[in-house]
Amino acid sequence: MKELKIEIKIQSLSYDELNEQDQTLIDAAKKATEKSYAPYSQFFVGAAALLANGKIITGTNQENAAYPSGLCAERTALFYANSEYPEEKVLTLAIAARTSSGFLDSPIPPCGACRQVLLETERRYNKPMRILLYSKKEIYLINGTQDLLPLSFGSEYLKE
Ligand code: THU
Repeated sequence: MKELKIEIKIQSLSYDELNEQDQTLIDAAKKATEKSYAPYSQFFVGAAALLANGKIITGTNQENAAYPSGLCAERTALFYANSEYPEEKVLTLAIAARTSSGFLDSPIPPCGACRQVLLETERRYNKPMRILLYSKKEIYLINGTQDLLPLSFGSEYLKE
């Protein structure tokens, strides 16, 4: 038997430690939570994607009375960015979430399905996507999906 260990790297930063562009993206994700449609969970999520052309595209979670028909903020933002600007790489994605008590105390981790979509987006544009996970206390900076979804399934397996 052999044990394999996978190491991931995440940086924890304060808002003030971020550069201006990252601060703007976090601000956009936080602001986007106001447009979330989450009448069932009351968990309001905003995502903001910075594209290579400098545009910021935001998305929010969109819920549905038939629960599985809803969509997370990250996928709403990325699918919209990729359909409207298919040629533009996604450089950074910022995510923020709030409940009735305000923004979260610990960084919001994207769900598994969103991580898979983040991975696909990164591969599509052949550029590591930076990911910023916001909370009131600290912000996580992840430098690519390999640190968010290790041991991932990608198109390389389809070719074997
Ligand atoms: N949600 C997101 O939009 N992004 C995440 O990363 C986690 C969960 C949404 C889905 C659903 O509308 C609500 O939050 C509660 O799960």
